[in-house]
Amino acid sequence: MSIRTLLQVIESIPASDGAGVRLRRSLGRTPHARLDPFLMLDEFSSENPDDYIAGFPSHPHRGFETVTYILDGHMLHEDHLGNRGDLKAGGVQWMTAGRGIIHSEMPQQTHGRMRGFQLWINLPAKEKMKPASYRDIGPAEIPVAALPGGGRVKVVAGTLMLDGKSVPGPIQGVSTDPLYLDVELPAGATFASAVKQDYNVLIYPFEGSVAVGPQTEARVLKAQSGGALSPGDRLEVTADAAGARFLVLAGRPLREPIAQYGPFVMNTREEIEQAIRDYQSGELVRSAV
Ligand code: FE2
Repeated sequence: MSIRTLLQVIESIPASDGAGVRLRRSLGRTPHARLDPFLMLDEFSSENPDDYIAGFPSHPHRGFETVTYILDGHMLHEDHLGNRGDLKAGGVQWMTAGRGIIHSEMPQQTHGRMRGFQLWINLPAKEKMKPASYRDIGPAEIPVAALPGGGRVKVVAGTLMLDGKSVPGPIQGVSTDPLYLDVELPAGATFASAVKQDYNVLIYPFEGSVAVGPQTEARVLKAQSGGALSPGDRLEVTADAAGARFLVLAGRPLREPIAQYGPFVMNTREEIEQAIRDYQSGELVRSAV
């Protein structure tokens, strides 16, 4: 058994995207700040509608998946295929852009704050041009597991492997085999679980800081920072004295070349140029129907 340690910290930086949505970007803030197969992680959190109400009007994607997890507030989404939905607090939208989607993502003003995450997960070369698809997962479909030492885990994707029990989430069968957990711990409690040895793992605390690794050599990871971990088959993450809430993201690395231009993520520059031409000509939309 080897317990993963904190290898690299990817601090989030303030960023603005869409029509002026203020957010914090950790993964993806530079082309070097990726963690295969994860391309980008944005956190948005604000009580001021001016920070988010302009939203993400109509825009394209090709070659990867976007996963939107709403903690507070809600968001309307529409696409060129005619899909329309209202993503509610505690819910997840798993969108596989594949060969092409054009959609809008518009946060809705509610009392209190709008808060959530968008994660971009790469697709293997052989799946980049598959048809676009969606899954909207309501809060009730996301299992919640109580932890023996206090706290709880929401299993958004993949299967949580605790000592003595496993808890499958609603998203399974994705080729990068992503594990997506939302863990909440009381002060000083430890989250311990098995994890696949060679998968890349990111810890992202968004409330409170955590200590990552075995107790003798645990390193502190502050809130709003992504922590990339060493290889290993076990996770141990301990909350600080105020308690903590954090994401655990794990996935099978693709180890393929990445060519990115904004919302298009392919393997070669030629494929990016094709994506731009397809978007300009309308082929991106036609080919996705
Ligand atoms: Fe989008």
